[in-house]
Amino acid sequence: MSSFLPGLDLRERRVAMAVCGGIAAYKAIDVLRILTEAGAEVRVSMTPEAQRFIRPLTFEALSDQPVLSDWLEPGAGGEAHIRLSEWAEILLIVPATANTIAKLALGLADEIVSGTALATRAPLLLAPAMNDVMLVHPRTEEHLTTLRERGACVVAPAVGRLASGKVGAGRLAAPERIVAAAEAVLQGRRRLEGWRVVITAGGTREAIDPVRYLGNFSSGKMGRALAQVAEARGAQVTLITTLPTGLEGLNEIAVGSAQEMLAALEQPAREADAVLMAAAVADYRAAEVAPAKIKRRQERLELGLVPTADLLAGLRLRPGALKVGFAAETEDLIERAREKLRVKRLDLIVANPVGLDGQGLGSDFNAATILDAHRVIAEIPRRSKWEVAQRIWDAVEAARAGSR
Ligand SMILES: Cc1cc2nc3c(=O)[nH]c(=O)nc-3n(C[C@H](O)[C@H](O)[C@H](O)COP(=O)(O)O)c2cc1C
Repeated sequence: MSSFLPGLDLRERRVAMAVCGGIAAYKAIDVLRILTEAGAEVRVSMTPEAQRFIRPLTFEALSDQPVLSDWLEPGAGGEAHIRLSEWAEILLIVPATANTIAKLALGLADEIVSGTALATRAPLLLAPAMNDVMLVHPRTEEHLTTLRERGACVVAPAVGRLASGKVGAGRLAAPERIVAAAEAVLQGRRRLEGWRVVITAGGTREAIDPVRYLGNFSSGKMGRALAQVAEARGAQVTLITTLPTGLEGLNEIAVGSAQEMLAALEQPAREADAVLMAAAVADYRAAEVAPAKIKRRQERLELGLVPTADLLAGLRLRPGALKVGFAAETEDLIERAREKLRVKRLDLIVANPVGLDGQGLGSDFNAATILDAHRVIAEIPRRSKWEVAQRIWDAVEAARAGSR
């Protein structure tokens, strides 16, 4: 089991990974490592240029397979790329250079990687990495669009420090993002392409005075897992969170109070296909925030509280967009979840018991029951939040397909 993607299981999956000649070629080693740790069988091929950046030996050692590098090599039978293209369940190109992307778009096949890509029926997953100007060059953009239109999946490069020393878009996506996307493709779950989704995460903080707040034990992990799974499945994700971690590949918005969360939600929620409200939003805030730090005294301190804004009730969504709520309860979980679903006019509700050791608030694990207005959709036993997020997205996708 991968420590980055807990629950990732790629046993008996056949992955062809092709490495191109870019600075990020060395990062393909990490991708290979995560794939093999998750149980995948991986065969690596390299363009001739890639071999000038990095030697095949490390890939051979980590994949326990010879690296296919020269299709004209005596002894390979000249058909190595055909055998690889028939064997593969997915062809992963990491990093995908501007040059190879152009060749694939045009159907050129003058070395083993482009030759395999042309000969395979397996889905293609590209992880481009290049200089920022090359990435936004109209030719590169056209080629990527052409490949997408033909069904290829693209793991968008990250913004960050590039080999040139500049900061911009073009960095190879984090290995975990690439592997998560590969898993989604292999499972036939890369079905959120074109979706815009908004997810809230973390416990809100309601100020009492300039240094203190009322809060809760939410860690934001469930919302983060939902965001990562949605991104892996191809969605454009906005994560509105009180606990930002700088997650790559999505639009993260940091907020503090329930009121701030509501304000941050308004615009993205109006354009979204689905809004998942996993944040633990305070029900009450201080009636008055003290302008200066409240001094410690011996007598009892009374704190006046008033209800916070109701985020779910206040949301305006597009027609057909799905509204998914979460209910965390210590008692009468299912009845309260049903009531919340009805009152807040939700499409789905994820009911998770809290107050149990080793799951729920703050934990890496969760258990949940997913309900719609009529029935229980899924009972999810205690699993990593990553796996629970997968099941929740399965339910959301099914609900969307059903409502069309
Ligand atoms: C030092 C250096 C770094 C390079 N880095 C990249 C890169 O990150 N991305 C890219 O698309 N091309 C990069 N290139 C250009 C490619 O190496 C070049 O286009 C090559 O022909 C790619 O071959 P391939 O696509 O067959 O692997 C780089 C070139 C050099 C000399």
